[in-house]
Amino acid sequence: MTFRNFLLFLVVATATVVTATTPDFPRDAAGQERLWNETIQAILEFKKEFDAHPELYQAEDGDALLTVPEIIARYGYPWEAHNVTTEDGYILQLHRIPYGLGCGEGAGKRVAYLQHGLMGDSSNWIITGNKSRGLGVAKYHVFCMTAFELVDACYDVWMGNYRGNTYSRLHTDPNKADFYDFSWHEMGMYDIPASIDYILTATSAPSLYYVGHSMGCTAFFVAMSERPEYNAKVKLMSALAPATFMPNTKSLVVRLLLGLMPIFDRPPYMLVLPIEWTERLAAALCKTGSPTQPLCAMILFLIGGDNAPQLDLVSLPAILGHSPAGSSSKTFLHYGQSILSGEFRKYDYGAEKNPEHYDGALTPPAYDLKKITTKIAIYYGPNDFLADRVDVIRSVREFGNGTVVNLREIEDPLFNHLDFVWAKDQHKLVNEVVMDFMEEFTNPTPTTTAPSGGITLGGGGVAMWVVVLLVTGFWGMKSSI
Ligand SMILES: *[C@@H]1O[C@H](CO)[C@@H](O)[C@H](O)[C@H]1NC(C)=O
Ligand SMILES: *[C@@H]1O[C@H](CO)[C@@H](O)[C@H](O)[C@H]1NC(C)=O
Ligand SMILES: *[C@@H]1O[C@H](CO)[C@@H](O)[C@H](O)[C@H]1NC(C)=O
Ligand SMILES: *[C@@H]1O[C@H](CO)[C@@H](O)[C@H](O)[C@H]1NC(C)=O
Repeated sequence: MTFRNFLLFLVVATATVVTATTPDFPRDAAGQERLWNETIQAILEFKKEFDAHPELYQAEDGDALLTVPEIIARYGYPWEAHNVTTEDGYILQLHRIPYGLGCGEGAGKRVAYLQHGLMGDSSNWIITGNKSRGLGVAKYHVFCMTAFELVDACYDVWMGNYRGNTYSRLHTDPNKADFYDFSWHEMGMYDIPASIDYILTATSAPSLYYVGHSMGCTAFFVAMSERPEYNAKVKLMSALAPATFMPNTKSLVVRLLLGLMPIFDRPPYMLVLPIEWTERLAAALCKTGSPTQPLCAMILFLIGGDNAPQLDLVSLPAILGHSPAGSSSKTFLHYGQSILSGEFRKYDYGAEKNPEHYDGALTPPAYDLKKITTKIAIYYGPNDFLADRVDVIRSVREFGNGTVVNLREIEDPLFNHLDFVWAKDQHKLVNEVVMDFMEEFTNPTPTTTAPSGGITLGGGGVAMWVVVLLVTGFWGMKSSI
């Protein structure tokens, strides 16, 4: 076991103790039992089906090892890769699908810019494909390909990659020592503005449609409040599970990591979970038929909330072959600060160092959400452990009046944070709803839609700790062989 992996193991163990003693740790026994039951049952039933008809569950395991352009090409769509240099020298890779089925090339198309969340990359918008699996009552259809759906609806689609992920690890200064000294603050200040400018120049469009998932929203709000001139360049922002205020975050894994913050909160900031470290391992451990597959599902549920019926186990190797795509430790720390402070504000360097960064102020200044004038449509999941409903609603109140033009709860009581990326029914539950509103917003008809109600709280089982602990240790040992 390498030192780094030993440290990770130690961290999770420590965090376990910290989390178990956190007063707002979900202790709803019925919720925990339901989660545990449902997950185990779903996985056992799936295993039975799979053993009976393995040929009906052909996975795109190969996608785990393909790049995003290679996957786009495999589906028969055209692609382009563009290098964008930010004002502070980071080189980001944008992936473009310029046109699709039934919509040829040509000017005057709507332009969509999709931005992934923490530890994601551009693969988040194309992974898992469009196919039926299984037989009879066990038959299901998986369809989560946001980018292709937008392309087929005649959008010119651009997918961003934040600094630090698989596709964006270059800098104009190849010897830059503090490469990972950034958080979502810098992504908002530089990555999003640079990408928007590049896309608008390349397409000659006056403005674009932005779609962000989680940190794709966090950094967007930083960009629009700190550099308000960019508001006019975005026609509509569709916010999927926006992470802004975070005090009600229920995610166990995230709460665990809070305990580790003091250890990591100092330079040099480092790269967390680079893809090279996990892709082959994930493909092997999470493959259908592998006895460790349920653990892979459990880890995802612990992070973003549980929704066994919507997780396509067959797609796990492809998903985990791309995500986690890596980010800086400072990005995690900045989120940790949001959870602890309950505020949406700049990086906290501590009372001693803050004055140097913030004109003598002891605490970091809050982002001024009132400066955001781009119209925002917000979509949230009722069982999202990270972007909690209460926090999402608070952000709606903090935006200026008239800024939020749509607020929708996804119509699945178990819908969680990561379902926005790869739920089996993403097409019906998310993409149709989001794209219908984009159309409605652009060409309004007299009818309006009201937000739906209802809220279900999910929980996490203490028993799952043990699982996480074991898996982390296992990964650690395995990776050092
Ligand atoms: C969980 O499963 C056990 C055993 O199958 C059952 O007795 C119990 O009622 C279930 N609990 C919930 C909340 O579904
Ligand atoms: C983008 O940068 C990469 C890495 O330096 C390089 O291999 C590639 O050719 C560049 N692409 C373009 C279009 O300039
Ligand atoms: C998805 O698959 C269904 C059924 O095979 C097909 O009718 C539909 O056109 C496909 N959609 C896309 C965007 O590929
Ligand atoms: C929004 O409208 C309410 C009610 O009209 C008002 O009390 C509040 O001050 C307004 N907020 C902003 C930011 O304009």
